[in-house]
Amino acid sequence: MNPKILITGAKGFFGTRFINRYKAEFDILGLGSDQLDITDNDAVIKAFAKFKPDYVIHAAAIAATDFCNQHPDLAYKVNVQGAINVANACKQYGSKLVFISTEQVFNGNPEAGPYSETDQPIPDTVYGQNKLEAEQKLLTILDEVWILRFTWLFGLPERHTSINPNVIWNALQALINGQVMKERSNEFRGLTYVHELIEQFPRIFTIPYGIYHTGAHNSASRFEIAQHILTELGQQARLSEILEVNDAPRTRDVRLNTNKLAQHGLQFTESKNAISQCLKEFHFR
Ligand SMILES: NC(=O)c1ccc[n+]([C@@H]2O[C@H](COP(=O)([O-])OP(=O)(O)OC[C@H]3O[C@@H](n4cnc5c(N)ncnc54)[C@H](OP(=O)(O)O)[C@@H]3O)[C@@H](O)[C@H]2O)c1
Repeated sequence: MNPKILITGAKGFFGTRFINRYKAEFDILGLGSDQLDITDNDAVIKAFAKFKPDYVIHAAAIAATDFCNQHPDLAYKVNVQGAINVANACKQYGSKLVFISTEQVFNGNPEAGPYSETDQPIPDTVYGQNKLEAEQKLLTILDEVWILRFTWLFGLPERHTSINPNVIWNALQALINGQVMKERSNEFRGLTYVHELIEQFPRIFTIPYGIYHTGAHNSASRFEIAQHILTELGQQARLSEILEVNDAPRTRDVRLNTNKLAQHGLQFTESKNAISQCLKEFHFR
């Protein structure tokens, strides 16, 4: 019998693509917020009691940083209390949990990345604080939990999936709308192709439990990445017209050191090459 996977946040950017990829291989129950509100503990328990998942991928969250800063109570309820409800249900029903966290736990660290799992995160946004607190609480509830701190994901719109702002989609939208892109040459983040990440999941279920920095290495700044995308889209001759540097006073480097995951055989294509791969798969080059 196929393993049973319950995925929360099933109608989101990650969840829709995960379900499309694995619906024939696993017995998947994907629940959007309209089907399961993770802040409703009774509803969470009922969903587990009925489905009895082997694995749970907890992808539901309020992930918009500004929205979380503006609505800290709601953000806490969903991002921390909701995660606790899911972890308690995992404990009760013997399900193994994948909790999706974020590089944003390091947003307030004064030293630059790449950060490893042993570095102490200092989040300076509500979203980052919520994710770090959820990580810590989950580790006290469950032993069988993988905490994956994702870098920023990218991908393109597809049928029956949801789309979020990301480097490639932002660049395409700017081109379509005739907008000049303003990008930082002093910001550094890992950028991971969502499909490459999703492909790794069967293997993720086999590694030891714990915290893992998850995603691609990226040596390029946000500005250099925008240059790369626009060049790949055939816009090289117009770069000076459509792309400007717009630096912030302070360098931001929230890159993750992913050596721990690599030691378990999980490696990602470096961001620039992964972007080229994505554009190729969607026939932009
Ligand atoms: N995408 C990235 O670059 C990235 C990077 C690092 C970490 N992550 C993490 O990865 C996970 C998936 O991200 P994503 O990009 O797929 O985010 P997303 O597109 O925003 O999806 C998250 C989903 O969570 C659902 N949700 C919100 N409140 C809920 C509630 N009370 N009960 C049940 N579901 C609720 C939302 O449903 P509604 O829209 O119906 O409210 C939404 O569909 C999140 O935990 C996020 O923090 C993402």
